[in-house]
Amino acid sequence: MPELKHPHQTQNPIMIKLGVNIDHVATIRQARRTTEPDPVWAAAAAELGGADQITVHLREDRRHIQDRDIEVLKRTVNVKLNLECACVDEMLSIACDLKPDQVCLVPEKRAEVTTEGGLDIIANRSRVADAVKRLKDAGIFVSLFIDPARDQIELAKELSAQAVELHTGTYADATTDAAQHDQLQILTTASHHVKDCGLHLHAGHGLTYHNVIPVAAIAEMEELNIGHSIVARSMFVGMQTAVAQMKALCIEGAMH
Ligand code: PXP
Repeated sequence: MPELKHPHQTQNPIMIKLGVNIDHVATIRQARRTTEPDPVWAAAAAELGGADQITVHLREDRRHIQDRDIEVLKRTVNVKLNLECACVDEMLSIACDLKPDQVCLVPEKRAEVTTEGGLDIIANRSRVADAVKRLKDAGIFVSLFIDPARDQIELAKELSAQAVELHTGTYADATTDAAQHDQLQILTTASHHVKDCGLHLHAGHGLTYHNVIPVAAIAEMEELNIGHSIVARSMFVGMQTAVAQMKALCIEGAMH
């Protein structure tokens, strides 16, 4: 099978892409198990604001995004659709049937509030290897959400993933300038290694309007996936404006 093109490859290759994660629009809906707010509306508004990609995480516990959401999004999203899911049979079957533009494999623990760290592909090597093959055979571009560690990046390459999304949560959680600087160094070194391995470079988790620019400024960063901060701001300024403001910061960082 010919190597799949990166989902964004047909667009401007030097401009950083913003994936807007709309899970928490569904979180509000699920608080009342009703029909509003609809993440499908959020996706449309995000597109109007300049989103290059809509990202959703279908969790095994269905705490926010539902199966209906991904089905409707698949039919209505006009940019790229990135499905985050755990490396388990149920999710892989759903992904292979849905055929989003990209699947990002993530770790999942039932008790967690949100994803806690990257998928340890070394500890889960055979499961991840099988999943990458299965998704690629279905024609889906595969990204692995991993910590910014050399051995994880090298294994991602060995397992034939096309991209890695570096976990930026530790950087985002840093409470001092010095700690943030150290974490940025780790991300930058890892990013160079990702490119040396010939993988596409994505990043995400915990990014906000205040911390995104240095990450967007990492050379050759191609895609950032950002959710909570955008959805939070959208309550006050609307989704379209919230996305446009984040997109402007991503571009500002990329031009540094
Ligand atoms: N990237 C991945 C792989 C994630 O699991 C998440 C959270 O679902 C995000 C990005 C977005 O994180 P946040 O909501 O903190 O911006």
